[in-house]
Amino acid sequence: MTRVAPSPAPSSPATPGPLPKAELHLHIEGTLEPELAFALAQRNGVTLPYATEDELRRAYSFTDLQSFLNLYYALMAVLRTEDDFADLAHAYLARARQQGVRHAEIFFDPQAHTARGVSLGTVVDGLSRALDTAEERYGISTRLIMCFLRDESAESALTTFEAARPYLDRITAVGLDSAEVGHPPTKFREVFALAREAGLKCVAHAGEEGPPAYVWEALDDLHVDRIDHGVRCMEDERLVARLAAEQVPLTVCPLSNVRLRVIDDLSAHPLPAMLDAGLLVTVNSDDPAYFGGYADDNFTAVRDALGLDEDTLRTLARNSFRAAFLDEATRAKYLAEIDAHQAAAQHR
Ligand code: ADE
Ligand code: ZN
Repeated sequence: MTRVAPSPAPSSPATPGPLPKAELHLHIEGTLEPELAFALAQRNGVTLPYATEDELRRAYSFTDLQSFLNLYYALMAVLRTEDDFADLAHAYLARARQQGVRHAEIFFDPQAHTARGVSLGTVVDGLSRALDTAEERYGISTRLIMCFLRDESAESALTTFEAARPYLDRITAVGLDSAEVGHPPTKFREVFALAREAGLKCVAHAGEEGPPAYVWEALDDLHVDRIDHGVRCMEDERLVARLAAEQVPLTVCPLSNVRLRVIDDLSAHPLPAMLDAGLLVTVNSDDPAYFGGYADDNFTAVRDALGLDEDTLRTLARNSFRAAFLDEATRAKYLAEIDAHQAAAQHR
């Protein structure tokens, strides 16, 4: 299969290009573009229930999270081999580079693959093959975050974690995703405790469609380092005060929120109110192949819809590095890149 060739480095002093940023909320399976889905379907002899890429694209009209997840899981049928996972990750990294992403913390959903007979080793080895080249080839540092599907049982999460022990040297954190309502974080207390004992960081989707109570649980029962989404925290003043006081990072995904009807319109997004409340907010793409934009597309969309100025966009970019699972020297290096970007933009 032909891969997307890496493009020239996007930021030089003369043309600053997109803001340097970290992407902290990105499902690798959600980067499966229609073109690659059809190419992999052909390579693996899988028949998709869509005749053309355009027909598939027309199915990208979602009423809620579940309506999206139905398509998201169905299309994973084309991901079967190590090569497939490596090609998927290469395609994402090539795009991410063009969007100014310097560091990416990438979710994957092991249970969605093992349930189809694709082994955890195939997934992790395939993804790592691409990620191992990411610094050199794309100028992007990476981490892997293994998510448990919250609409599966707590036992299934435990079995998945035990099966992942041989791969933990390549996994930085565990996460919690899939259908939120009716599947509170507390259900996964035990597996998150094991993950923490094993030295992993912890994150969880909470307060996307689910209530603020799920954000409290993620903090108090799962002891997460970050909340993914979290936009519904704004319904609970005490929760906002806690998140602000503890500077718990929130990985917000604006275009996703619109496409999944978490909010009616981007112009009504709570992002400005979240920043005003002193929350450590970051902007991310979630499932960019499905939601109409990658990392910088989300930055541009919130700038245009919410009238955010360049200083605010830089704050969001700085927050992304502050919230990343990075050593302090690398964090400082990336933060300095934002300063350099600012200087280049002002001296044009
Ligand atoms: N899996 C992929 N995208 C997701 C989202 N936005 N929320 C929950 N689970 C997901
Ligand atoms: Zn997500």
